[in-house]
Amino acid sequence: MTIELLEGLTTTRAIRRYTTDPVSEDHLSTMLFAATRAPTGSNRQAFRFVVLRSSPKAQEAKALLGSAFRSNWEAKRRADGYDETEPDSPTARVRRALQEFVDGFESIPVVVLPCILPRHGQLIDGASIYPACQNLLLAARALGYGGVLTGWHSSVEDQLKTLCSIPKAYSVAATIPIGVPKGNHGPVRRKPIQRLVFEDEWDQPAQWAMDPPGTRFTG
Ligand SMILES: Cc1cc2nc3c(=O)[nH]c(=O)nc-3n(C[C@H](O)[C@H](O)[C@H](O)COP(=O)(O)O)c2cc1C
Repeated sequence: MTIELLEGLTTTRAIRRYTTDPVSEDHLSTMLFAATRAPTGSNRQAFRFVVLRSSPKAQEAKALLGSAFRSNWEAKRRADGYDETEPDSPTARVRRALQEFVDGFESIPVVVLPCILPRHGQLIDGASIYPACQNLLLAARALGYGGVLTGWHSSVEDQLKTLCSIPKAYSVAATIPIGVPKGNHGPVRRKPIQRLVFEDEWDQPAQWAMDPPGTRFTG
């Protein structure tokens, strides 16, 4: 099945629950090819991708990440009041997905660590790695997989870098687990376009900017 580009862009959800199905090397290669074709400032390509699968080293790194993810989720769950929601609410569904995600982190087939050699130490450095992350997620979607960009490695970044021999000068920009989704991709929910896109002046909605019929929004 081929997914049209625009459809893929608007239906690639954060996937945190995976089956145990493997990710084939061919598919992984295609995903990383898409990631490495992303634009970077001056085409410097100061990005590198460390892929963790099932080697003893990968298992060690996944265990380190798994404990960091569980601690981060525990703190977020309490801080953001996830436990106080109605069992059938969308937030409760996200809570359950997140719990399953962190509990089974070590079993996720592939974990990608996108790394960047920072140049300016500013926001603009991110612009030379996050387009590649999104390319990776879109390519995963096109091939029947799913993933999610996360930042929960940051508390163990130094240990992770030592373990995976990532040079000190590089930053690990994200942790991206990838696998076959247990749930489904589908239209993402965002705010109405009129609240996000202006013309000429801040807060002046662009009259021509329309959400397609049937678009669903965040609450
Ligand atoms: C910069 C950034 C950081 C994120 N960090 C995390 C994270 O640490 N843990 C996580 O589970 N999801 C993380 N996400 C995923 C978002 O929560 C998710 O994309 C968002 O809720 C929208 O969900 P949707 O894409 O399924 O519509 C992150 C996404 C972005 C873009």
